[in-house]
Amino acid sequence: MSAKKITVVGAGNVGATCAQRLAEKELAREVVMIDIAEGIPQGKALDQWESAPVEGFDSRVTGSQTYDAAAGSEIFVVTAGIARKPGMSRDDLLKTNAGIVRSVSSEIARVAPDSIIIMVSNPLDVMAQVALDTTGFPRERVIGMAGVLDTARYRSFIALELDVSVEDVQALVLGGHGDTMVPLVSYTTISGIPLTQLLPMERIEALIERTRKGGAEIVGYLKTGSAYYAPSAAAVQMVEAIVRDKRRILPCAAHLTGEYGEEGIFLGVPCKLGEGGLQEILQVELTDSEQAALRTSAAAVRETMASLGA
Ligand code: NAI
Ligand code: 2OP
Repeated sequence: MSAKKITVVGAGNVGATCAQRLAEKELAREVVMIDIAEGIPQGKALDQWESAPVEGFDSRVTGSQTYDAAAGSEIFVVTAGIARKPGMSRDDLLKTNAGIVRSVSSEIARVAPDSIIIMVSNPLDVMAQVALDTTGFPRERVIGMAGVLDTARYRSFIALELDVSVEDVQALVLGGHGDTMVPLVSYTTISGIPLTQLLPMERIEALIERTRKGGAEIVGYLKTGSAYYAPSAAAVQMVEAIVRDKRRILPCAAHLTGEYGEEGIFLGVPCKLGEGGLQEILQVELTDSEQAALRTSAAAVRETMASLGA
């Protein structure tokens, strides 16, 4: 199973790497990149297409400045935005990116009113809300990417610590995409064995702390940008679950209407992704401290929404 057309908006680090991964997995017949930067999506798309004979994929990769090229796309991965610049407050960044996501979302609704949006731009949980409000799409068709990335970081750190395969580490990180994210120790297992039987609590706490600061750790190394290999892999895993109707259970930012005691915000929760997008939000039991941490995380998302005046 593959889509006819998937569009990635923003051909920067995350967007271009997403496009490449989508093409290499042949998740769509046509992969389109859109960016306001003259020539960038065209150049990157042509470069990727020229790798097709070597990699052996037949997804056509194209780039454009305009949305006509994206007409009829089944899925959009939105990575457009700017990074914080010197002298710019967090609120300035929030407002600038909200403006970008608003304009991108209204173009998406115009050229592909039945499409599904995977939001990646930061601040993630609030940008997903902006896309939902601007397009008027149902919540099944606007989903935020953060939990898959945060959980992948947590799993990768656990695998290193225990010297086991990443494939045998199952975990869930819920909550907003930020310092208040909620790695669930009670749902972390190694081939079914609770992590708490294999590691002392203080080591687990250290891995959780590293996970919470996972994005900042990469920025600390790169200096001029943020992570994109793991983020693009995470977004593409969500796309694959939808395109191939895999009904995967993945932690994603979904618009809550009472689940986990929260309403009217996007928050990372366990979701079933398949045909049509978000098929179900799973409500799992949480310990008292996990429930309290999720409430704190939801409050942080609400605070960011309030600074936007949303
Ligand atoms: P980047 O700076 O490399 O790329 C952003 C691209 O967006 C640029 O090419 C820029 O020209 C383009 N752009 C700006 N305004 C646009 C518009 N109106 N229409 C179309 N394109 C536009 O940034 P990068 O590293 O690719 O990150 C993209 C976004 O994803 C950022 O907001 C970043 O914080 C976020 N991010 C989110 C993650 C998550 O877990 N949700 C993980 C990693 C990044
Ligand atoms: C990350 O977690 C910057 O949100 C981005 O790497």
